[in-house]
Amino acid sequence: MTNDKLMAKTFYITTPIYYVNARPHIGHTYTTLACDAIARRQRMMGEDTYFLTGTDEHGQKIQRAAEAAGKTPQKFTDEVSAEFRVLWDRMGITYNDYIRTTSDRHKIGVQELWRRIRDNGYIYKGSYTGQYCVFDEMYVEVGPGEPCPECGRPTETVKEENYFFKLSAFAEPLLELYSHADLIRPETRRNEVIAFVRSGLRDLSISRSTFSWGIPVPDDPKHVIYVWLDALANYITALGYGSADSSKFEKYWPSDVHMIGKEIVRFHCVYWPAFLMAARLPLPKAIIAHGWLLFEESKMSKSRGNIVRTETILDVLGADALRYFLLREVVFGHDGSFSFDALVQRYNSDLANGLGNLASRTLAMITRYFKGEVPYPSQKAAHTGAEDLVAALAKHTISEFHELFQQYQFSRALEMAWALVAAIDKYIVENEPWALAEKQDEHSRARLATVLYTSAEALRIVTALAHPVIPEATAKIWTQLGLGDIAKVSLADLRWGQLPLGTKLGKVEPVFPRADKSAIERMQKMEEQQRPAEPDTTEVAQRATEAPPAAAGAGPNGASQGSAPLNKAAGVVPVAGADGKITIDDFAKVELRVAQVKVAERVKGADKLLRLEVDLGTETRQILAGIAEAYAPETLIGRKIVIVANLAPRKMRGLESNGMLLAASLEGGKPVLAGFLEDVPVGARLK
Ligand code: MSP
Repeated sequence: MTNDKLMAKTFYITTPIYYVNARPHIGHTYTTLACDAIARRQRMMGEDTYFLTGTDEHGQKIQRAAEAAGKTPQKFTDEVSAEFRVLWDRMGITYNDYIRTTSDRHKIGVQELWRRIRDNGYIYKGSYTGQYCVFDEMYVEVGPGEPCPECGRPTETVKEENYFFKLSAFAEPLLELYSHADLIRPETRRNEVIAFVRSGLRDLSISRSTFSWGIPVPDDPKHVIYVWLDALANYITALGYGSADSSKFEKYWPSDVHMIGKEIVRFHCVYWPAFLMAARLPLPKAIIAHGWLLFEESKMSKSRGNIVRTETILDVLGADALRYFLLREVVFGHDGSFSFDALVQRYNSDLANGLGNLASRTLAMITRYFKGEVPYPSQKAAHTGAEDLVAALAKHTISEFHELFQQYQFSRALEMAWALVAAIDKYIVENEPWALAEKQDEHSRARLATVLYTSAEALRIVTALAHPVIPEATAKIWTQLGLGDIAKVSLADLRWGQLPLGTKLGKVEPVFPRADKSAIERMQKMEEQQRPAEPDTTEVAQRATEAPPAAAGAGPNGASQGSAPLNKAAGVVPVAGADGKITIDDFAKVELRVAQVKVAERVKGADKLLRLEVDLGTETRQILAGIAEAYAPETLIGRKIVIVANLAPRKMRGLESNGMLLAASLEGGKPVLAGFLEDVPVGARLK
């Protein structure tokens, strides 16, 4: 046998690296835990598995988010990246490496990739004039002033001297790649990619020079490398590409699975293979795109303000509950809705009443009737067709589960495993071990042993299969079964009949306590508390009906300074000194930004109030403003306004207002919105 054959097969799986402009939510958790389940399973199949995750920390979007938070980009990214990492550790995510794009090892690798692509003749200098969507960090082919075709947000005009990547040279090789490789799944995404490439590929601008938060272009540090080229390279820089030690790169690259959400298919299936081809590096073997987690009918995301934090679910139900729910409930590849009701319902039916109950009743009966030792089922006479049926179903489940999991059909795989749970339950009910235990004759005793052995063996099989999905609970059941460390189990060798007779059980304890209605309320409350508390009601009432409030000059100390001052951020500006003046530092605390109105509508029952959704470049906000008597909602769409972006959120008429717009407040007249004579980019800060 050669050395190669002696070595375990390798398996390299990656998550997307997450942007640090937003704190982690269960959408990010979904991708990460799907990868974790796959990685755990591959390890249990005996493969030398390497699982990578990390954070994407460069680019204009992050730079602006840091500015908005009043932090340096490095401090800001350090903090949010650490939050992701802490969460993954709490979730029991078994990543082998955590890459940050601000790390030196990454920068070195990205610059090496750039040099290699350049030296192979695929990078040239040109000049770019066009529209850029900061939210998607992507150039888009629309006219000035038109919104991004992907996300609908306003685009910014970019006019720069840039480096270009000869993407157009790769249309044919890419189509060839898609035609015979099982590269992109599911099929719908593959078809989308093929259609995109067939419609023609234009060269891609891969550097920016109007901001600095990125990796400098080798030999031309005025430019930073396009954030997607920077980010995609993480999959190889984490393995040491471009460093002195490339042993991991040689061992694990190309990747077996890049797991991504469906919105970033183009970057992974078009740009990434093209960059790799240009660098003459091997291509990934599979790119798997899953759907979105929806909450209240739309994609869960920070900008929509509809996120659910993972920590809330961990605190109340634990990691296994969320892991099971997301993989069981959402059909992989499709969008799926999240709700606390559905989570608790699934938890109770499948985990507390399902697997948890099966484990406790089976193990408790073995403890009671056989002093905690797995009984001997051998007597032929005690064996009926019912045991054969359970064994046959278990064998079928093992092979089907394996097949479905390989195809990323987690939901169906778990459905199969839980059909086995239901079958064992039924088998126990029909064979009434408790009644057998009451009889003292030898046949009943043998039958009891057979029934309990069969149940325990089937339980063992479900537990082993489910381990990659619900690692914590299955590890406990395994110990209760007296079998030691479940992580050491070889799934490839899992067969019916391997439960050693006479195994001494561990202490039997429930693994999934039932959750009642209060669990839902607790989680909802915890999420609610994350949002700022309701302000004092008198103040709310006043703010809800006021015209654009008194001018800034009329700070907490009163005295208005004229007829139409602009700033209405009185609540944020610290109390002025005795002379009524504030310092420049005081002013700097007020974050004024340009925003663009995307949605405007009247608020029922409030004559003066409009509900606006405004775009800030990095996010969309809801703002309530008392300008309904001065502005018809439809006249505001597309208008650029100025808002106080760091005002603590308030509730008015049950709606949250996240910021405040600026308007001149005219004595006895209608408010007049602040604006600009020149065009200004959305998100720009006023200083
Ligand atoms: N930084 C880029 C990826 C670069 S990879 C080289 C990025 N980051 S992101 O923070 O926006 O996260 C993207 C991934 O998070 C999605 O592709 C998806 O895997 C996951 N999700 C974020 N929100 C999600 C949902 N609401 N639902 C499901 N997954 C979601 O794009």
